[in-house]
Amino acid sequence: MSIQSIAINTGGGDAPGLNAVIRASVLAALNRGWKCYGIRDGYHGILMPELYPDGGIIPLTKDRVRGITHLGGTILGTTNRGNPLHYPVEQSDGSYLEINRADELLDKFHELNIDALLAIGGDGSLTIANAFVERGFPVVGVPKTIDNDLFGTEVTFGFDSAVSFATECIDRLHSTAESHHRVMIVEVMGRYAGWIALHAGVAGTADAILIPEIPYSIEKIAQKVTDREQTGRHFSIIVVAEGAKPNDGDISIIGKSVGQSERLGGAGERVAKQIEQLTGKETRVVVLGHLLRGGTPTTFDRLLSLRFGTAAVRALAAGETGVMVGLESSEIRCVPFSDVAGKMRGVPLHSDTILTARDLGITFGD
Ligand code: F6P
Repeated sequence: MSIQSIAINTGGGDAPGLNAVIRASVLAALNRGWKCYGIRDGYHGILMPELYPDGGIIPLTKDRVRGITHLGGTILGTTNRGNPLHYPVEQSDGSYLEINRADELLDKFHELNIDALLAIGGDGSLTIANAFVERGFPVVGVPKTIDNDLFGTEVTFGFDSAVSFATECIDRLHSTAESHHRVMIVEVMGRYAGWIALHAGVAGTADAILIPEIPYSIEKIAQKVTDREQTGRHFSIIVVAEGAKPNDGDISIIGKSVGQSERLGGAGERVAKQIEQLTGKETRVVVLGHLLRGGTPTTFDRLLSLRFGTAAVRALAAGETGVMVGLESSEIRCVPFSDVAGKMRGVPLHSDTILTARDLGITFGD
């Protein structure tokens, strides 16, 4: 089937580079004579049109995507609530029933004569997109997440920007930690993967890096701080991934509400309390959190996003469906959703970045 019209959406947590992907895919599509529509806030623009004065689906023209390559966020809006495959509907007794609204979304695509979807998102978004593929509707995915934890690509866009910012923060914390002879804990996002903590921690020359892939012993981290003390280094920097866990405990979770995935938080605070107790040194915590998702994309992320966006359109034009564009050996390729969806790519324990950290004397607390 030849494509005349596509829809684009962005789902999950935002990441620097989303707007660059949108602009690239819209221009590549318009250049082929296709029409482009943007769905607001994941699929909410279709599922809850009453919330949107513009109807929830907007035509994406050249003018609408002008000057957005360098902007953080997404002009379409995004959400990590209200998964259409498990859409929570409140019952009269206050309980929730989950319903699958995939067919409703497809009906809307057909009603608007939309021939294909370009879904920009992480694992959750690709799993949703796969439901359309299973129903015969063409979809190509673009891998997004600052966490860099997706299968099928060496790197996701947004990761480099998050790591660059985290590294800059660690640099800034060094001077104040040294001046005040303190231990500074820097907690970073990443969910169940330690990519951001590892890369920023090594680049920022942290003394300890705690990642979910390597459960830590708090005594070993405290020992590192004490050893440094004895060699005249009266400060330490410890980077803690939000999903880090002690070898005798679990990850730190703030909570979970209806229609959302669990919220991680408190990992840095937990480490700080124990380090202060064990070493007697003043220990402060900085949680970088959502700051890592904001700001302008780095050059690497912009270029990657522009490459991913146009490659996704080329893939649709070539009749591909049920695939995600990804990076392998610096080249773009298409990977089937089945190789990607529902999987998480953690840091390999013997990766050279881990070995680099160990050779530099950085401890993982193992
Ligand atoms: O997946 C990206 C991410 O930034 C995670 O690192 C983090 O745990 C999560 O999103 C936070 O999501 P929210 O903004 O919904 O709290």
